[in-house]
Amino acid sequence: MDELAKRREAVAVGGGKDKLEARRAKGLMTARDRLDALFQHGPMQESGMHVKHGCHNFGMEAKDLPADGVVTGVGYVDGRPVASYSQDFTVAGGSLGAVHASKICDIMEFAIRNGMPVVGFNDSGGARIQEGVESLSGYGQVFFKNVYASGVVPQIAVISGPCAGGAAYSPALTDFIIMTKGTSSMFITGPEVIKAVTGQVCTMDDIGSPAAHAAVSGNIHFVAENDAHAVQLVQKLLSFIPSNNVMDPPHRMDQPVDMNPDPGMRDLIPEDSKTPLDVKAVIARLVDGGDFLEVQMDFAKNIVVGFGRICGIVVGIIANQPAVKAGTLDIDASDKSARFIRFCNIFNIPIVSLVDVPGFLPGVAQERGGIIRHGAKMLFAYAAATVPKITMILRKAYGGAYLAMCSKDLGADLVFAWPTAEIAVMGAQGAVKILYKREIQTAADPVEKEKELIAEYTAKFASPYQAASLGIINDVIDPAETRAIIAMALRNTLSKRETRPPKKHGNIPL
Ligand code: HXC
Repeated sequence: MDELAKRREAVAVGGGKDKLEARRAKGLMTARDRLDALFQHGPMQESGMHVKHGCHNFGMEAKDLPADGVVTGVGYVDGRPVASYSQDFTVAGGSLGAVHASKICDIMEFAIRNGMPVVGFNDSGGARIQEGVESLSGYGQVFFKNVYASGVVPQIAVISGPCAGGAAYSPALTDFIIMTKGTSSMFITGPEVIKAVTGQVCTMDDIGSPAAHAAVSGNIHFVAENDAHAVQLVQKLLSFIPSNNVMDPPHRMDQPVDMNPDPGMRDLIPEDSKTPLDVKAVIARLVDGGDFLEVQMDFAKNIVVGFGRICGIVVGIIANQPAVKAGTLDIDASDKSARFIRFCNIFNIPIVSLVDVPGFLPGVAQERGGIIRHGAKMLFAYAAATVPKITMILRKAYGGAYLAMCSKDLGADLVFAWPTAEIAVMGAQGAVKILYKREIQTAADPVEKEKELIAEYTAKFASPYQAASLGIINDVIDPAETRAIIAMALRNTLSKRETRPPKKHGNIPL
């Protein structure tokens, strides 16, 4: 027993008590602290505690590397099993060698076999230099396992420290990435290499910081204030998603459908249809307790995506944000929402789309940047999704963007519209200019005539009643009924079963 206790104690202190304390003094959690916080200070079944690294190069065999620099195990988050690995920077800089990699692969394989999420804390100097090509091979095996697990169990990567070079590709292959402010960085080539190769001068903040990835590159989904906050974000995210792709998300089915009207929803609609509506205020009234976990909140702010519950049912919400870029769809908004839609579809999360979109963003940069390809991702993702799809048209729904926001034709199960909805090929102003050019020019008062025609066009061609009369939408509703109608729609589609012709996978435009 003494032997076991001694060994356990030696592994528990990782790179040594001094190193652990030094990290804590800097306000950082250790690898084990992170797991302990994730598992809510409950039990963890650890595996691979006694591994020995197999390195024979550069005299590494003389060094003892406790747990080979990565702690792996299974614990419980809100009672549900979750597999996790946590790299220990105090042991050879958390660097990844063959044994370290095989521990990560083993815990991922365990998660796949038993259908549970994988949470990885990345805090590493990258490939273990002394192990040479074996470390590269190890990374390759981790990437392969990330892809193998993708679509089977949710994968969340927390970047808690450095994550350099090819190492960044393991997080990039997961579903969600969280970076911690102040301590983490992620890049393929750092500022020094960039300068040496291209002459470009930049700082780490420009290319590899949480802020840069959250707002500019769009590589990550959440920014955490510190280690504890990163763990809270993981827990919050897990509270909306199922353990694997054959389970339902954690709905709260005991909650009744709330049929009470919400007149406050009406008050959010500006008098003037040109004044933007803040869709986040709509979402806050729609979800239970205003509890909405926004994903990628700093990237492509013209579309809002995230998780909430509506009368107990977990939903993924995709909403145009008219307060930013007039709510147009552009390249980044298309990428952001397409990926979110696909996540929801994999994990059986119903999708609610809130539409207020004037169209795709016009511009040379958009056309040359491939808005056709990127916008097509959104169309593809919606059309391919077989989860319940509920669409609510709030105001504008024009042209291709109307279709791209999950119209009936793209497979929406139920589509509703507020009376303020304008569903048309294009905005009234542009349309009358094309259709009634001569009438306007020859009118005694062209300005007055144009106004008249706009009103006529809006009532005739863009009216939600016109769309409803054609069966393109199911119903026109009072905005005060929005939550109740969506809640019922969700209950009524939750048992949806849709199968498609068998295939390897579709060819989404990437
Ligand atoms: C082995 C490493 C290591 C590595 C750090 N250490 N990185 N050991 N392989 N890759 C060790 C150090 O020797 C040191 O050991 C301890 O970890 C702490 O490192 P420090 O440098 O003292 O820490 P710090 O000053 O905080 O700097 C952290 C760091 C730096 C910025 C990460 O260590 C660093 O630049 N490391 C190399 C990063 C790198 O180039 N990795 C390869 C990337 S390419 P002692 O014994 O002194 O405590 C890559 C390819 C992947 O990863 C390809 C996949 C396809």
